[in-house]
Amino acid sequence: MPDPLNTPAAELPVRRLGPGDLDRCVALSVDRHWAPEERKWLFLLENAEVYAIDAPSGDLAGTVTLTRYGTTAAGIGMMLVATRYGGRGLGRRLMTHVLDTAGDATVFLWATEFGRPLYEKLGFETVGVTEARVGRLRVGDDPVRTRPADLDADLDADLDADLGALLALDGEVFGADRAELLARLFAFAEEVRVTEDETGLTGYAVSWRNGGTLFIGPVVADDEEAAHALVIDLARRADGLVRIDADRSRPSLLHRLGERGLSEAFSTCFMVRGGRPMPGDRARMFAPMMLAMG
Ligand SMILES: CC(C)(COP(=O)(O)OP(=O)(O)OC[C@H]1O[C@@H](n2cnc3c(N)ncnc32)[C@H](O)[C@@H]1OP(=O)(O)O)[C@@H](O)C(=O)NCCC(=O)NCCS
Repeated sequence: MPDPLNTPAAELPVRRLGPGDLDRCVALSVDRHWAPEERKWLFLLENAEVYAIDAPSGDLAGTVTLTRYGTTAAGIGMMLVATRYGGRGLGRRLMTHVLDTAGDATVFLWATEFGRPLYEKLGFETVGVTEARVGRLRVGDDPVRTRPADLDADLDADLDADLGALLALDGEVFGADRAELLARLFAFAEEVRVTEDETGLTGYAVSWRNGGTLFIGPVVADDEEAAHALVIDLARRADGLVRIDADRSRPSLLHRLGERGLSEAFSTCFMVRGGRPMPGDRARMFAPMMLAMG
């Protein structure tokens, strides 16, 4: 196996990982002082394309994930290069690999300050700033304003009413088909809640566990009021920290979450390659499923 310390990065083989690589992925996160996030890594290994450069020690020298939504859109995440291999072109090598794989899709990602210079060199433009809000969310005695979704996550069976309506709504808002991925998410999730009016389903949101934290996303809603109600009703189940990633273009939602105890842990730049418009109706997308996937 070529050693990344003395091989030109362009010549290093890139390997597709599988669930058997979970421990190596977690070790790489820890090397970069990121949370281990075993559960999220496993979801990515099972449902996204995870690529890596191997190190001769048997560890991973670097990773990146690609989630393709047909040929329309693709999300990049978990761009990590082990500290001892930093600054040798491995980040660029992995990014070039996934960009070639993504083809003509609209490619997006959330960038830390460390990744942004590389992404800018590869043609990404910042189109927003997203805050990771984390804390113990105080729910109080707010009235419940949403209801649990009645989902049959088996897409081979006839879709029940909620699932069919939810996938149609998500398709409109996200702008690309992710029905299969959402079915996997619903099986992995704690809870899925919906809002509705006389016309039918108007929004939905999902909570899922990652370590000791309850993550909330995606959140699809008609307005900030409805998004807030979905988040509050999902947070009722939390027995510890809650996290939601929301764009700064949602000041009222962020302010209300701040008042209830969710403060900014860090922020990332939302970047799209070539500054292309995102598909769908993103005005109704209040939080992504996870930053690594979109
Ligand atoms: C970000 C990260 C993946 C970069 O990996 P890397 O292998 O060190 O990156 P590379 O050696 O391929 O360098 C990438 C390019 O960015 C450039 N670059 C890096 N930091 C820069 C800076 N502060 N200003 C300008 N350019 C910078 C490099 O010069 C290089 O340019 P080149 O390819 O034209 O020579 C790595 O630092 C890392 O894992 N950081 C911690 C985790 C993280 O924040 N990941 C990003 C998540 S969005």
